[in-house]
Amino acid sequence: MTTAPHDLQGLNFNLSEEHLAVQEAARDFAQNELLPGIVERDNAQQFPAEQVKRMGELGFMGMMVSPEYGGGGMDTVSYAIAIEEISKIDASASVIMSVNNSLVCYGLEAFGSEEQKHKYLTPLASGQMIGAFCLSEPEAGSDATSQATTAEDMGDYYLVNGTKNWITNGNSSGVALVIAQTNREKGHRGINCLIVEKGTPGFVVGKKEDKLGIRASDTHSLLFTDVKVPKENRIGNDGFGFKFAMSTLNGGRIGIAAQALGIAAGAYELALKYSQERKAFGKAIFEHQAIQFKLAEMATKIEAARLLVYKAARLKDEHKDYVQAAAMAKLFASDVAMWATTEAVQIHGGYGFVKEFHVERMMRDAKITQIYEGTSEIQKLVIAREIVR
Ligand code: CAA
Repeated sequence: MTTAPHDLQGLNFNLSEEHLAVQEAARDFAQNELLPGIVERDNAQQFPAEQVKRMGELGFMGMMVSPEYGGGGMDTVSYAIAIEEISKIDASASVIMSVNNSLVCYGLEAFGSEEQKHKYLTPLASGQMIGAFCLSEPEAGSDATSQATTAEDMGDYYLVNGTKNWITNGNSSGVALVIAQTNREKGHRGINCLIVEKGTPGFVVGKKEDKLGIRASDTHSLLFTDVKVPKENRIGNDGFGFKFAMSTLNGGRIGIAAQALGIAAGAYELALKYSQERKAFGKAIFEHQAIQFKLAEMATKIEAARLLVYKAARLKDEHKDYVQAAAMAKLFASDVAMWATTEAVQIHGGYGFVKEFHVERMMRDAKITQIYEGTSEIQKLVIAREIVR
């Protein structure tokens, strides 16, 4: 048994001037450029193309990537802060950002070759192009080792066949990291991750999902039929693909935990404001203890979620083991997001059930944080494994 990942010693939660500057920039951007039109984009499932372009210009698409490859060279705490602020307003925009930063850019920078980094990471980090991370399949969601997509070794290239499901940035991405099985006999050690460019013959964008939440992000199935991918597009050694996916998802969970935190905090802020304006029984509803209790509990749980998110981010920045901390942050923050947004709707009463008050969208958006990048059940599995490791 180990307790090391729980050790808070040496963790400094004070935010630096840089962190506060990131927070302010993300907050301003979210208020001024994401809030306008958000209800319409959610209704129409309209991808926020202009806003994503601006996120690239403002440095939000490759925040942790080294400046050598066009990134911001920032730490994970800065990234979590930016995701939180953006998610307070627009969780569709933040998932686009999160997948690009934590899964695609991080995966390439940590494990890609120098050539791959120069060719792909540079445009991805600057936001000129966005990326997709393709692990899930119709028959392989939580059970990620059961990859049906194949990458047959043809000598100097791989031949990719199969279907990927629920792919964030599915249509809007210029490049996809595709996890596929090369040698079934070797199980998860026979899986590879290939960088596949859009436009490669046989690579087709399939059905767009009509989703409950994060409706402005584009989630598609991707179809691969005899797609030729050059060998130099494989990330790492032969058979490294599953390890690549797992290692990348460990960090991705900090991004999703920060997203969940932001959704919860955004709903809380709206509920608090509403409770001070709305009158019932002769006084602002905030004056009623029933509402005070709700807001007090929301504030407490959100603060606890924030501590877990910052802790996981700090551990990653300090190159310490953060696997368990990231899973705990995601597990807890996503449950807080679902619960707090439901409470925010309740505080708003009938107004909470209609679109212009935003909290119903936040409640719908919160649900996915308990599902993607590993369901809550998978997080518990990861945490339990780390406890006995
Ligand atoms: N970090 C690093 N390596 C890990 C790991 C982790 N967290 N978990 C497992 N591994 C490694 C193991 O060490 C093992 O490697 P070795 O044999 O070389 O030691 C290998 O992976 C296989 O491990 P297991 O036998 O334990 O694998 P398993 O099949 O029992 O379970 C699992 C693994 C944790 C359940 C995994 O399948 C999993 O995480 N599933 C969830 C997948 C997921 O999160 N999907 C999200 C899709 S992406 C997405 O959602 C993006 C988006 O749209 C926003």
